[in-house]
Amino acid sequence: MAKLIIEGGHRLSGQVTVHGAKNGALPLMAAAMLIGEPVQLLNCPRLSDVEHMGRLLKGLGCLVQWQGDTLCIDAGGASSLALPKSSAGAIRSSAFLLGPLLGRFGAAEVPYPGGCNIGDRPLDLHLKGLKALGIRVEEGSGCIRCYGRPKGGVEISLEYPSVGATENLIMAACGAEADTVLVNPAREPEVDDLMVFLNAAGFALRREGSSRIRIRGGGKGRGLLHRVLPDRIEAGTFLTAAAITGGKVLVRGARGEHMSALLQTLREAGCRIRTTAEGVELTGPERPKEIRFSTMPYPGFPTDMQSQVFALCTLAKGTSLVEETVFENRFAPAAELRRMGADCRIRGRTALIRGVKALRGAEVTARDLRGGAALVLAGLAAQGITEVYNAQVLSRGYENLAAALKGLGASIRKEDQSP
Ligand code: EPZ
Repeated sequence: MAKLIIEGGHRLSGQVTVHGAKNGALPLMAAAMLIGEPVQLLNCPRLSDVEHMGRLLKGLGCLVQWQGDTLCIDAGGASSLALPKSSAGAIRSSAFLLGPLLGRFGAAEVPYPGGCNIGDRPLDLHLKGLKALGIRVEEGSGCIRCYGRPKGGVEISLEYPSVGATENLIMAACGAEADTVLVNPAREPEVDDLMVFLNAAGFALRREGSSRIRIRGGGKGRGLLHRVLPDRIEAGTFLTAAAITGGKVLVRGARGEHMSALLQTLREAGCRIRTTAEGVELTGPERPKEIRFSTMPYPGFPTDMQSQVFALCTLAKGTSLVEETVFENRFAPAAELRRMGADCRIRGRTALIRGVKALRGAEVTARDLRGGAALVLAGLAAQGITEVYNAQVLSRGYENLAAALKGLGASIRKEDQSP
């Protein structure tokens, strides 16, 4: 167990460099299984979710090793098509392995990754799509078994633009003989980057307008080197830290064009934002203004930034309204923020946040990755000392968040609570 101890009241200032994207690296790692030749992922973030995915790939017979911040994966020797039951539960992205295993071998067995704190996280859209590709799917005793080579020549409509289902079906369809078209696919930048990666490997995929992706059949992938795109959620977290402390921070490497909805909302809160080739710079207001936003699939406001901006709203002048439309249980930090003096009410998928002049430091507990980040941001602005327990959950999505914030002037330190 780990705890972060934060003394609030320090305006952040300076520069920080964004790492490679967690939600970019994970599908690329899975796609290495489809390619079956040496793949090098540059600028790969050292996160516990990435390490766990690496263990899953090793468990399937792949070679996985770090060379600096490059992750090298060679799935040439992959043999077993069944992930051990004990392995996959911890992270959702184990489900991403269904598509590549089917695309390459025509068989896959993945333990049900199950839900997590933010929601039930079903896989029905993944499985419906795989069945449409002619795959036989058996569910039972805690795992999913799939058999058959993906057959193309179909058009698959997604009821919801699920990121994971889109990525899984793209990778499965790469192994089909005939073309496949996905209708209503996810439009996240990480999906586009996966398509760039697969095209560079020798497959043929393209978007046809904003609501269709065509995956050419009969492709074969070759080994390649690819740079993981910058993490727009890590970048957004640093920018919101500047906003909540009234500071001024440049996030080097951040790509403003991937963050438009978030930046628009932060401007409405009174932040001054400059996007350049170098990155994105934010100057926070003395006190944020009230805002209203709803989380939506990309290019809408990202659900992975909802908790962090929720924390900003607790200090706004006026009453803010936040609607979480993507996950059914993503307001966990509210109870912890109330312990710090926040005035927020949750009604189903909507939160009403009456801004207060100041938060006070308290002992709080991180329940999920982005909710934990929200508590850290609140601690940066609170009067006094905040202790964030269960802080190890942050390492799932941030490479040493405390060190990065300390480098920007925060008073923050980590204490290991291991028994
Ligand atoms: C990806 O999760 C991200 N994870 C999530 O980031 C992110 O919040 C989410 O996309 C939305 O942007 C990775 O990329 C590893 P979805 P994913 O399928 O693919 C429902 C973080 O903090 N749904 O787009 O699981 C689902 O329950 C994580 O970095 C079904 O109903 O998200 C949710 O309500 C959290 N059936 C909605 O769709 C399905 O078969 C969006 O889920 C699949 C999804």
